Amino acid sequence: MSTKETLIRKLQDKSAKIGILGMGYVGMPLAVVFAEAGFHVLGIDPDQRKVDTFNKGVSYIQDVPTEKVVHLQKDGRLNITADFAALKEMDAVSICVPTPLRHTGDPDMSFINSALDQLEKYVHKGMIVVLESTTYPGTTRELMVPKLTDQSGLQVGEDIFLCFSPERVDPGREDWTTLNTPKVMGGITQDCAEVATAWYGGAIKTVVPVSSAEAAEMAKLLENTFRMINIGLVNELAIMCERLGVDVWEVIEAAATKPFGFMKFTPGPGLGGHCIPIDPLYLSWKMKEMNYNARFIELASEINTNMPRYVANRVLDAMNDRGKVLKGSKVLVLGVAYKPDIDDVRESPALDVIALLKKKGAYVSYHDPYISQIHHEKEGWRMETVKDVMKAVEESDAVVIVTNHKVYDYKAILDSASFIFDSRNALSKIAKDDPKVVKL
Ligand SMILES: NC(=O)c1ccc[n+]([C@@H]2O[C@H](COP(=O)([O-])OP(=O)(O)OC[C@H]3O[C@@H](n4cnc5c(N)ncnc54)[C@H](O)[C@@H]3O)[C@@H](O)[C@H]2O)c1
Repeated sequence: MSTKETLIRKLQDKSAKIGILGMGYVGMPLAVVFAEAGFHVLGIDPDQRKVDTFNKGVSYIQDVPTEKVVHLQKDGRLNITADFAALKEMDAVSICVPTPLRHTGDPDMSFINSALDQLEKYVHKGMIVVLESTTYPGTTRELMVPKLTDQSGLQVGEDIFLCFSPERVDPGREDWTTLNTPKVMGGITQDCAEVATAWYGGAIKTVVPVSSAEAAEMAKLLENTFRMINIGLVNELAIMCERLGVDVWEVIEAAATKPFGFMKFTPGPGLGGHCIPIDPLYLSWKMKEMNYNARFIELASEINTNMPRYVANRVLDAMNDRGKVLKGSKVLVLGVAYKPDIDDVRESPALDVIALLKKKGAYVSYHDPYISQIHHEKEGWRMETVKDVMKAVEESDAVVIVTNHKVYDYKAILDSASFIFDSRNALSKIAKDDPKVVKL
């Protein structure tokens, strides 16, 4: 039996040992899906706090209930360690490490590089490695292949199998999860994709094989660039509508009644999260290397990046219209997570909205039921959430809704606030033409 056939058999009868490098928002739900499908899964993460929390039987990822973790742990199907030497026992490894940007805006490949450094030590014949971290096109072939073959002498497609499969998880979402969201899979060779499809197909409902790792890398960048550009478009539409004196939210709702050829996106205070503001810049960085300027990405990025400033200026203008000065006023920001109902503040526009309001002299506080502390790295300040949201609303000169968490009692907030700037149209149903409220 060839190496490929042996590995496929192990993956199909679930005797293959699965390793997940990076047990964060992406790695943990993926590990759970594999474990629930019957594999023995080991998460490997250098963050000792995550390992300790897991070992106490507590889930540190909002989308993964603690009961599930405890059950899988007791069953011996899911474990976690900070010891990379465990990689030598693994038959199949998914890499789910962060891919942020450097301060210069260039891709920060240090986490992928360090994961590959570890894998290089333990890679062995009969192993499959799937890279899931979002990255620039060419990473799998240009970075992963030499790293795992140069020293080991192993042949891709014969001894080891290397693929890229983009992660599409949308944290907080319940209808589309890691289990039922189709998984695109691109191999360095056809055999690589076949082995990966046998593995992932045993746990995830739909696997969509494509002809190359590059096609899979690029598919992910298309998805996120599509979102980023359309959000940039509606953000600019909001700016244009304000000048025209037209309600942008009404315009969007009206356009969205068209049953075909239109997809609804909504404006907001800027882009946040680990993906949409960042991933397209991986593509534009790669294109710059090839002397091509990715103009749509640059333009949308410029518009989206400017939204926190636009919101801060609108708050200032709206207060001015009410005979109030922002400088010295108490402003409460409601919601700092980058999107509703989650506990993730990475790249959240709330941080810049707060920083800009502070620079204009406002006394800013914030409330978020899911985020107890925030830290603005560039500006060097930290803040803690106010505990009593309604008291803070009553005491504020202005409330700025940045994230429209469902748990808020918007009626009570509307009744108690003296002025609200609603950057998410959170009050659409209860505050039609209320002079207290100004919408983006
Ligand atoms: N969060 C999302 O919604 C989302 C969605 C789709 C794609 N992605 C992509 O998935 C990747 C992971 O994102 P995430 O949100 O899970 O990040 P995360 O920060 O939540 O988790 C990454 C984990 O990797 C660990 N880690 C760092 N270096 C490591 C190493 N050398 N070896 C093993 N583990 C290491 C970290 O300690 C952390 O626990 C990124 O490329 C991201 O762009 C994220």
